[in-house]
Amino acid sequence: MISVTSLFDPIDTDLKILTDNLKKLIGARHPILGAAAEHLFGAGGKRIRPAIVLLVSRATMLDREITQRHRRLAEITEMIHTASLVHDDVVDEASVRRSVPTVNSLFDNRIAVLAGDFLFAQSSWYLANLDNLEVVKLLSEVIKDFAEGEILQGLNRFETNLSLESYLEKSYYKTASLIANSAKSACLLSEVSEETAKNLYAYGKNLGLAFQIVDDILDFTGSTEVLGKPAGSDLISGHITAPALYAIEEKPLLKTLIEREFSEDGDIEQALTIVRESNGIDRSRELASYHAKEAEKNLICLAPSDSRQSLIELADYVFNRLY
Ligand code: IPE
Ligand code: MG
Ligand code: MG
Repeated sequence: MISVTSLFDPIDTDLKILTDNLKKLIGARHPILGAAAEHLFGAGGKRIRPAIVLLVSRATMLDREITQRHRRLAEITEMIHTASLVHDDVVDEASVRRSVPTVNSLFDNRIAVLAGDFLFAQSSWYLANLDNLEVVKLLSEVIKDFAEGEILQGLNRFETNLSLESYLEKSYYKTASLIANSAKSACLLSEVSEETAKNLYAYGKNLGLAFQIVDDILDFTGSTEVLGKPAGSDLISGHITAPALYAIEEKPLLKTLIEREFSEDGDIEQALTIVRESNGIDRSRELASYHAKEAEKNLICLAPSDSRQSLIELADYVFNRLY
């Protein structure tokens, strides 16, 4: 399997600059925020979202050098992502992520909500300072989409009649929207054609959906050690993701277990086993594969370059990743 490190070769130095800048941008205005920032941007994240922004920037600038605005856009993207993770961990009452304690468990929920808000606000400030109204519109919509995704997911807990369409809609809001809109924003900063910007939006959307579907599969198939967060937690919390949706069609007992919210002894173990042994995993992999392949097709509009090649291989990486 290709490693994410070699995929990011064309933007290796860019990513180092990004990490340094992120720590500086959040700054140590308050010891707790400083600690949270150090903690959040220190290590562990895969940096996939800013990497996509930087690769799209390079692939659309070609012989021109990428600008400070492209770099800032990548930083804003990671900041927004991190803010959403901090809030998501509060909503999910999660105590570990990236194998380290979450902000809510390290401090408490109030601090975590405020730290997330601070990151969203800070990202909006840097966003406004890009001085590009179109980009401001795209990324502020992303922040709205996150909230909508969390609300949709919250309303649908233990809802076994969820359609695959609403699952994909929620996945767009929670994951694909940021990748799609930040990829498109990079195109706008490069001032390429509207057609290219549209294709890169579609690339981000398809890649994001594939990423989320794989994330949902890994929640069933991965180990807690490799994932850096407890395995099986989606279903236990009542989040019915693709593998479970497919498994319900195959094994009606699963529906019963979910509907009684795993209230009887052994329900959870039985439900997890049903999903793991069903065709739901394979069918979800097919769905993810479909979106990963579509994502690759969306790149045909770009002239060949190392960065375009990395974007192509990233679709493969997302589909085959283990954590
Ligand atoms: C996790 O994203 C949240 C989802 C949208 C599935 P990542 O798995 O990219 O998280 P980090 O940044 O690498 O920790
Ligand atoms: Mg969540
Ligand atoms: Mg997950």
